[in-house]
Amino acid sequence: MTPVADPDDTASNPSENRPFADVVASRRGVLRGSTLAAAGFLAGAGVLGGAGAAAAASDRRGGHGNGHGNGHGNPGGRRLLGFAAVAASTADNFVVPPGYTADVLIPWGTPLRSRGPEWRKDGGNSAADQAQQVGMNHDGMHFFPIGRGRECDRRGVLVLNHEYVDQALLFPDGAAVMTKEKVDKALAGHGVTVVEVAEERGRWKAVDSRLNRRVTGATPMRFSGPVGDRHPALAARGPALGTLNNCSNGYTPWGTYLACEENWNSYFGTTDTTWQVTPEQARYGVDRAGFGYNWHLADPRFDVAVNPKELNRFGWVVEIDPFDGRATPVKRTALGRLKHEGATVTESRGRIVVYTGDDQDKEYVYKFVGSDSWRSLRARGKSPLDHGTLYVAKFQADGTGTWLPLVFGAGALTAANGWADQADVMLRTRQAADAVGATPLDRPEWVAVHPRSKDVFLTLTNGSGGGPVGPRTPNPYGQIVRWREDRGDSTALTFRWDIFLLAGDPKYDPAVNLPEAQVFGSPDGLAVDDDGRLWIQTDISNSSQNLASKGYDRIGNNQMLAADPATGEVRRFLTGPRGCEITGVTFTPDHRTMFVNVQHPGEATSFWGTPTPENPRAVSNWPDFDPAGRPRSATVVIRKRDGGVIGT
Ligand code: FEO
Ligand code: CA
Ligand code: CA
Ligand code: CA
Repeated sequence: MTPVADPDDTASNPSENRPFADVVASRRGVLRGSTLAAAGFLAGAGVLGGAGAAAAASDRRGGHGNGHGNGHGNPGGRRLLGFAAVAASTADNFVVPPGYTADVLIPWGTPLRSRGPEWRKDGGNSAADQAQQVGMNHDGMHFFPIGRGRECDRRGVLVLNHEYVDQALLFPDGAAVMTKEKVDKALAGHGVTVVEVAEERGRWKAVDSRLNRRVTGATPMRFSGPVGDRHPALAARGPALGTLNNCSNGYTPWGTYLACEENWNSYFGTTDTTWQVTPEQARYGVDRAGFGYNWHLADPRFDVAVNPKELNRFGWVVEIDPFDGRATPVKRTALGRLKHEGATVTESRGRIVVYTGDDQDKEYVYKFVGSDSWRSLRARGKSPLDHGTLYVAKFQADGTGTWLPLVFGAGALTAANGWADQADVMLRTRQAADAVGATPLDRPEWVAVHPRSKDVFLTLTNGSGGGPVGPRTPNPYGQIVRWREDRGDSTALTFRWDIFLLAGDPKYDPAVNLPEAQVFGSPDGLAVDDDGRLWIQTDISNSSQNLASKGYDRIGNNQMLAADPATGEVRRFLTGPRGCEITGVTFTPDHRTMFVNVQHPGEATSFWGTPTPENPRAVSNWPDFDPAGRPRSATVVIRKRDGGVIGT
């Protein structure tokens, strides 16, 4: 699909809850802007200083079971960011710093087996082909190492989301006419790819493996938690199939992958003129047209008038076992139903805590706290993702915050107020959060937790905002919010927060405290590595990218930067090709290989134009640069020529 405008720019929250921007604006006198002032605020409150980075020098995150924690660090005061900054770029290529290499891996359409259907550069692959190939529009991703010792730095299972499909590029004849075969191919281009990868003779490649599989928009699913398989709200036509719009992700300490369903409302529509949207459907942005996919014209599954309960099967976090190709993915309904950007898991005294943003303007950030030690629950045959409490955040103007429980019977969520049970609260999570008084935010995207300080970082990508300094009205550039849970305990129900970083260009907003050479906007993807570097990926809307009228003319194509949480220093690490966003980041355990995703290169942008069936290369021809080809999303493998840790 090619959205004409960023679909998330419109809010569907009619509640009167006080926006975060107002809260921030009222704190201006305390904050005085962005990074340094903000860091000072928390340091003054005795919460955070250089301690995070100092601890990074000596301490290392222990084996988390699936990824991080091999021996490297940031010895004694060495600067955390060691690479030469890359300049902002409008070129149709992928640029990394001097001394680094970037290799394309598993572009859209790569067959999952060496004997699988070859990718056709005219878009002519069938739905059946696409179901055996890497999907489109790579997004959140995690590397699950395989083997022992050094082997796990060279071999693993890469699991990645395919957020949506660009129907203009997916089909040889574009998106104008919709057929059932096209719907099936689009469904097959969605979901998740599980693929074993290995470094062989100095180059990473996909390998034939029994673990390789696709989870698509047509894969059988199970439901667990308060809204179980047999819940009447899920009794739509046919069996429960598929996961859609998998944006960011998460992974658990027991070695499973979490794919998150974001703009799932966008696939539904109807031509029935008598159809009326319910308040609950409207709260999730369901309407007559969706985002223009037109699947409902060829498949009644996506017709909201014919099959309304199909909507209830989406909006969840999906757990996938990358090491069991036969395991049915499970939608974990205790984590709520919203437009989940991601699901970031951390641990506190054996219990899991899962942070998840709801990415739409004026929506909320949530956390799930496990009821018991995850090991103990699993030993009893229970899923730690089914047993716990979901909370939503309320940010106070004085720099404190609280987590409000979304529990049937608690606070406003009573039978007298029209709530039926816990399943009802989870099916209508957005409305439950409205009712308890959560704080609306500027499009909450990814969450990253510092492995040692446990400070939590959240990207607020952009939104209607408020306040002249940060957050602004409107807020086209976004910011990164940071908080520390009280007592440093991730399960705590109170926290202290500040604005870690206000994104933007000081040419248009003097409150932005970024050097001219490092300006950026619309932060989205986020990760903290074992050394404590904060990696920031951008998703500037294609309706704003490169445009002076939107304040984005000096920022260039979407990119990835690194920040030092202790000093606030920001440095641009890479830039992507035209029309793309950069999203998804994961490392081998030794952090000497980084994987990132280039999503939707060549998509229509206001600045570069619109791809057509005659010229799918109108915006970009990355990464193949085949004169008869078309742009393809892909994973990029980044390494240092000297074999060092990425970012040093
Ligand atoms: Fe899929 Fe919120 O970005
Ligand atoms: Ca995206
Ligand atoms: Ca995103
Ligand atoms: Ca985004």
